[in-house]
Amino acid sequence: MHATSCFIRPDVCAFISDHRFDRDCCWRSGVKLLPIECHSSNDFRITREAVVAAYESATSNGVRVKGILITNPSNPLGTTADRATLAMLATFATEHRVHLICDEIYAGSVFAKPEYVSIAEVIERDAPGADRDLIHIAYSLSKDFGLPGFRVGIVYSYNDAVVACARKMSSFGLVSSQTQLFLAKMLGDEEFMARFLRESARRLAARHEMFTSGLREVGIGCLGGNAGLFSWMDLRGMLREKTAEAELELWRVIIRKVKLNVSPGTSFHCGEPGWFRVCHANMDDETMGVALSRIRDFVRQHQQQKAKAQRWAARGHLHLSLQRHGAMASQYHALSSPMAALLSPQSPLVHAAS
Ligand SMILES: Cc1ncc(COP(=O)(O)O)c(C=O)c1O
Repeated sequence: MHATSCFIRPDVCAFISDHRFDRDCCWRSGVKLLPIECHSSNDFRITREAVVAAYESATSNGVRVKGILITNPSNPLGTTADRATLAMLATFATEHRVHLICDEIYAGSVFAKPEYVSIAEVIERDAPGADRDLIHIAYSLSKDFGLPGFRVGIVYSYNDAVVACARKMSSFGLVSSQTQLFLAKMLGDEEFMARFLRESARRLAARHEMFTSGLREVGIGCLGGNAGLFSWMDLRGMLREKTAEAELELWRVIIRKVKLNVSPGTSFHCGEPGWFRVCHANMDDETMGVALSRIRDFVRQHQQQKAKAQRWAARGHLHLSLQRHGAMASQYHALSSPMAALLSPQSPLVHAAS
């Protein structure tokens, strides 16, 4: 993704995106990344309206949009984009003369239907009018093959100038001969590759099922995913209020008390507080079991506290109908509010805030 820095003027340009590319794209180049707002009401699909809104909001603020960056399969959603969405993006890019960069780093980690479609196929079949000079694909062996340490990435572009630039830039990150030899053998072994990808999909599906069904038992849902090494977990019901601050409070509790490293939705520019990405493919079954039981215990504990608070609140209601208690009644009401119980000194939320 670093190749992007070569054709961006930080002061005036922006990319609109569905993912947190801040580190890869912004830190060195200073380019702005403006999120395309997606919502749970349609499973966070990228709609044309959302792309137009992001584009128009940027341009009306005097920011020149240079491109659209997406991840397909999506990180953090763990879902694949359908043909219609990809065709819409390619058409939008062509109409507005902006680049479309598709990060397909999880393309080999699709474990269930719908089948994965690359933007490369879409511009052949579904959007033949798209300007190919504007379409670029990024890939790396880090995820599908578990080889992040190899630092091998691929830029697949239809634009000769981009390829020429990427070729020059690659001089600064050449892949060692030993690595090349190893990878040429591995990737050239068709029988091994088919077996590896089949087995990887089988294990990812099993892990995904273990995680999502384990959470379902305690009433926690996840977005229906079919790809990637993670799930998009819905903890909206556990937020103190529907704000990014409340999401971060809950995240701190999960880090400090539950001792699990999950990623809050805000770090992906998700505008709907309460979603968390949980990576569950990078551990053995035993560790997964421990992590899952910790989340479940935490959720149960929270549910019990909430139920208790609600019982108190109900009693408080009866009490408060006797208006003459005046100051006493309001004191009681404060104590009996659901938030009072959640924010008792024993509450993890208090510890998180301290
Ligand atoms: C969508 C996406 N693109 C790119 C990367 C970077 O991968 P690499 O290890 O090849 O630099 C990541 C890693 O987290 C990712 O999730």
